[in-house]
This record gives sequence, C-alpha cells and structure tokens, in this order.
Amino acid sequence: MLNIVLFGPPGAGKGTQATKIIQKYQLAHLSTGDILRGELSAKTTLGVEAKKYMDKGELVPDEVVIGMIESKIEQNAGVKGFIFDGFPRTTAQAEALDKMLNKRNIPITIMLSLEVEKDELVKRLLGRGQESGRSDDQDVTVIENRIKVYNSETAPVKGFYEKQDKLESIAGMGTIDEIFNRLCEAIDNTK
Ligand code: AP5
Ligand code: MG
Repeated sequence: MLNIVLFGPPGAGKGTQATKIIQKYQLAHLSTGDILRGELSAKTTLGVEAKKYMDKGELVPDEVVIGMIESKIEQNAGVKGFIFDGFPRTTAQAEALDKMLNKRNIPITIMLSLEVEKDELVKRLLGRGQESGRSDDQDVTVIENRIKVYNSETAPVKGFYEKQDKLESIAGMGTIDEIFNRLCEAIDNTK
C-alpha cells in the first residue's frame, strides 16, 4: 500500500495536489477539512459544533477528527492506499493515526510537506475567498490565525515523522504542475 501524509500550512496546495495524486496513483483521498465541511452542509450536530472552531481558524478537538478518520479508513477497506490531507494536525492525532494503521498493518509510507512562504499563503487564500463561499477564507484575521495555529500546533507533527525517517520537504512555490512533478518524484523514490 502507498499511504501518504500530505502536509503543509493553510493554502499550501494540499487539496489541489491531492486531487492530482489520487488520479495518478489511484488512492483514496481523506481530507478532514472536506469531511467537516460535508458535515456542515448536511447540518449534522458534528458539523454545527465544528463550525464554531473552523470559523475562528482554530482546530476542531482531536477526538472528533480521530473518530472521523477511523470510520473513513474502515469504509475504504481494500483501496491501494490513502492520502491524508489536513490530518494529522497535532502530535496526538499523529500518534492515534499510527495506532490505527499499525493495527491494520498498513503504515504511512511518506510525509510530503509542502513549504510555502507566508505572503503567498495569504494571497492564495484571499484569492479563493473571493471566488468560493469558504467562510474561513473571507477574513484576513482568520487566515492569519489559521497560519499561527499551524505554526504552533501543527508544524511539530513534522518532527514526529522525521524521527521515523519519513519526512520529505517539497518546495511548494511555483506552478501547480511544477509542484506536482516534485511530489511524484518523491513518491516514485519510495518504491
Ligand atoms: P482544511 O480544510 O484542512 O483547510 P486548511 O488547512 O486551512 O487548508 P486549505 O484547504 O485552505 O489549503 P490547502 O493546503 O488544501 O490548499 P488548496 O489546494 O486548497 O481545514 C479547515 C478547518 O477545518 C481548520 O481550520 C480546522 O478548523 C478544521 N480541521 C480540518 N482538519 C482538522 C484536523 N485534522 N484537526 C482539527 N481541525 C481540523 O489551495 C488553496 C488555494 O490556492 C486555492 O484557491 C488553489 O487554487 C490555490 N493554489 C494551489 N496551488 C497553487 C499554486 N501552486 N499557485 C497558485 N495558487 C495555488
Ligand atoms: Mg485543503
């Protein structure tokens, strides 16, 4: 199996690149942000609860997202692999994911960490905010908070995978295709 953690700050291009990677390598795409927005548009209790955190750019509690991911892994039994996008976002989530995957004998193959300068992140997110209805892209203070939360709570997850010798940093500036080629090269090197 090929199991990828696609990592990086808000606006790094995780969702954009995941869409291309799943086509090429035929993986299942698990994005906690997309799952939470799906819950929200279905107006479930979970979605309504999560919105309170998302609108402020804060993280949804670990137990909520960990439970969500575990049920998605269950539902996708038999796939060629997973691409985890926006998860794990805390060390506790990384530890929980390792437990879930070790139990099933399907460990993480590689963490691909997209590195993008802050000014570019803000520019991309404000740009999307103008086109899409994503409420957390509308306000620069919410965007700044998402980046701050990434730096304090999420960036340390890189150390977790570095210790396992699985971290691969990828330059996330440039065109979408240039970045995709860098990601594919790193993936192909794992084989
Ligand atoms: P989530 O949905 O994961 O959002 P995020 O991390 O803020 O990341 P984005 O989706 O905004 O960015 P991306 O890296 O996917 O970039 P994209 O490809 O879209 O999370 C949202 C919220 O949900 C969190 O704040 C939190 O509250 C909650 N949450 C989710 N997961 C959680 C978890 N595990 N634990 C706790 N809470 C959780 O690209 C962005 C834009 O840039 C697009 O418009 C795109 O077209 C453009 N773009 C992409 N690549 C390029 C390029 N190379 N050049 C120019 N533009 C580009
Ligand atoms: Mg995304």
